[in-house]
Amino acid sequence: MAKLLVQKSGPLNGIVDISGAKNAVLPLMAAALLPEETCTIDDVPALQDVRVMEDILTSLGAKVEQKEPHVLEISVPGELANVADYELVKRMRASFLVMGPLLARTGSAKVHMPGGCTIGARPIDLHLKGFRALGAEIIMRDYSVEARAPRGGLVGASVYLDFPSVGATENIMMAAVLASGTTTIENAAEEPEIVDLANFLNKMGARVKGAGTDTVKIEGVRHLHGAYHTVIPDRIETGTFMLAAAITRGEVLIRNVVPDHIKPISAKLRECGVIVEVADEGMYVVADRKELTATDIKTLPYPGFPTDIQSPFMAFLATVKGPSTVIETVFENRFMHVAELNRMGADIKVSGDRALVKGGARLEGAQVIATDLRGGAAVVLAGLAAEGTTEVSEIYHIERGYENFVEKFRGLGANILRIND
Ligand code: EPZ
Repeated sequence: MAKLLVQKSGPLNGIVDISGAKNAVLPLMAAALLPEETCTIDDVPALQDVRVMEDILTSLGAKVEQKEPHVLEISVPGELANVADYELVKRMRASFLVMGPLLARTGSAKVHMPGGCTIGARPIDLHLKGFRALGAEIIMRDYSVEARAPRGGLVGASVYLDFPSVGATENIMMAAVLASGTTTIENAAEEPEIVDLANFLNKMGARVKGAGTDTVKIEGVRHLHGAYHTVIPDRIETGTFMLAAAITRGEVLIRNVVPDHIKPISAKLRECGVIVEVADEGMYVVADRKELTATDIKTLPYPGFPTDIQSPFMAFLATVKGPSTVIETVFENRFMHVAELNRMGADIKVSGDRALVKGGARLEGAQVIATDLRGGAAVVLAGLAAEGTTEVSEIYHIERGYENFVEKFRGLGANILRIND
């Protein structure tokens, strides 16, 4: 099993370039199933999750070619199968995002239920509420979900999302673009990844308005054509490296950043005394000027504080003076990293949806596991500040979502090594 050995490092110093966003490229790849012509997606990060999505699109009959590093060409010249391969779907729950495009393009789709994961049950009821609103019949059988459009095709409708679900907003948008009539998604997710998907769909000839607000309107069209699109930078990877600079009291220049996308992270780091400055060449994060202090965070749907940065930020809060409270409102079980941080000497107590961080901990290296993608990043960050060596196992969680994770940290002077046990 591969592991990471992390030594006390820093202050980190230097330049890091952010990759294309994992949570944008996955829906973009699914959307490429919609037109019969070729779509080209640029700045695609080299991630395990991207490879799984490539395999799923190929299994459905799409042609997926890597034209050059980070550039994918996806074309669906012929018939699309409409049953997603179980073995592939179970490897990544974002596979469920092929449901909307398949339903729109072929009139039916059958996808295995996406499993829950360590951070929560991850239900799909809001996705199905949207498909039903568009007229689809939903059949749940042998742990699969089958959606069938009416004979005349999907019909635009209004749907209210009880929670501004990112995936449900994306799936319903993609199902609605070829429906007859207009679809309105109320209480839609406002994440930048939703806007990126809407921009791509509109380049194909779709008519999507209001992406990035809580009301998205999709006027159905009869035909979509191929398009070229560059993935937005990964705001969660950006936040992860901002916190790497902060936890090691370093000074880092982060390039390929959209400052607007990480406003809540910049704001909370500034409250702790970290300098975050946007310049032409990128964003400077400077944490070596003065004693840093704690602040409280509460995760919320965008534009609130991102749940994906909750665990890396908690690792940082464990090292600064003063108590802090971390409230997780998006997922029901996103504190698994707390036990790992406490093994390293942090003093964090969980009670319901909140974690009370004592702060000012002198972290010690330990044997820990990556409990999930972002929890794995959190223990690596803690390892950079801990005395001695931190051995992180289960690192497949980390590698599925961060491109060149180890190389980028080493480029900033981090003592981190990937070994095969
Ligand atoms: C996306 O997941 C991201 N994944 C997640 O990133 C991210 O944490 C999440 O959005 C929230 O920002 C991708 O984009 C591939 P949701 P998604 O639907 O779409 C409830 C990472 O680390 N819900 O917005 O699955 C759900 O239970 C990953 O990169 C329903 O109740 O998130 C959860 O509590 C982790 N019914 C909340 O909404 C539904 O039908 C947010 O889920 C759908 C969701």
